[in-house]
Amino acid sequence: MKQIVLSGIRPTGKLHLGNYLGAIRDFVKLQEECKCFFFVADWHSLTTLDDFSELRKNSFEIVMDFLAAGLSPGKCTIFLQSDIPEIAELALLLSMFQPANELSTLPTYQDVIAKKPNKNNAGLLYYPILMAADILAHKAHLIPVGRDQEIHIRVARDIARRFNNRFGDTFPIPQTFEKESIKVPGLDGTEKMGKSEDNDILLTDSPDIIRQKIAIAVTDTSRKHLCDPGNPFICNLFAMHELVSSENTVEEIKIGCKTAKIGCLECKKMLSSSIIDLLMPFQEKRKKFATNPNLVKEVLHYGRLKAKKNAKKTLNEVREKMGLSSF
Ligand code: TRP
Repeated sequence: MKQIVLSGIRPTGKLHLGNYLGAIRDFVKLQEECKCFFFVADWHSLTTLDDFSELRKNSFEIVMDFLAAGLSPGKCTIFLQSDIPEIAELALLLSMFQPANELSTLPTYQDVIAKKPNKNNAGLLYYPILMAADILAHKAHLIPVGRDQEIHIRVARDIARRFNNRFGDTFPIPQTFEKESIKVPGLDGTEKMGKSEDNDILLTDSPDIIRQKIAIAVTDTSRKHLCDPGNPFICNLFAMHELVSSENTVEEIKIGCKTAKIGCLECKKMLSSSIIDLLMPFQEKRKKFATNPNLVKEVLHYGRLKAKKNAKKTLNEVREKMGLSSF
């Protein structure tokens, strides 16, 4: 039997290169070997949203990104979380298998309320249970997520175990999918590319914008002049070269930087062109969907039918075991 893979992305804004290299590129590979479910976690994004007016548009954009990156409705199931209300009912039922006090101690919860005290809503506390329902509804085995989400996979695992202990084998115990840990650094010299202005490259940035963003990106700050040798291993842009440039280019930069033969300016030009080469085919394909929104809607419609059927089956099984099947 094929392994079942599932992952979701919250529609909190446009996707960037970090999302692509760190997640979506893996999804595209996984759809070839496994039974995959990829969805837009729009309910989860409600927990931290200030402005709801862009949510629907952002969700649609993510689906276009999925498709442009190469996810195919013939190979995997692509859907919107809020299209499957069965997940909400399953989350309610599964919440009976989760101690309440543990939820408020999770670092993910603590982090959000430390940064945004006004987001101390019950939905945020409930976040891991909803995520467990996403996973268990499809009886998924492997969950490709970033490090920050591992704790939530643990919660899903605990819930699955408690349920199985009580009612017999129902759910496989989900595991985090260990990909080679790809870290996409930020353009501002920080460790991780995130959603902020001087830190990311959006998948939809034009070549000009890409060049501008790279031009002002932070490099090895101790290298002030072209004749100073640089240290590629502490330079975020070299780390990016390693992710997007050819082996030859990477070698050339590594040596050129250390020996002061290649300056930051030239290194940046080469990096921009590698990123542009990587993103142009993606953007071309994305245009096709942007000008044909009905294609995207069809994908979502089809995904909704498939995901719903599967979630309903699991929900009925859980209802029955818990004494809730209707008369
Ligand atoms: N919480 C995840 C994130 O922010 C998104 C998500 C929601 C998810 N449900 C999921 C990921 C289920 C994997 C499986 O990245």
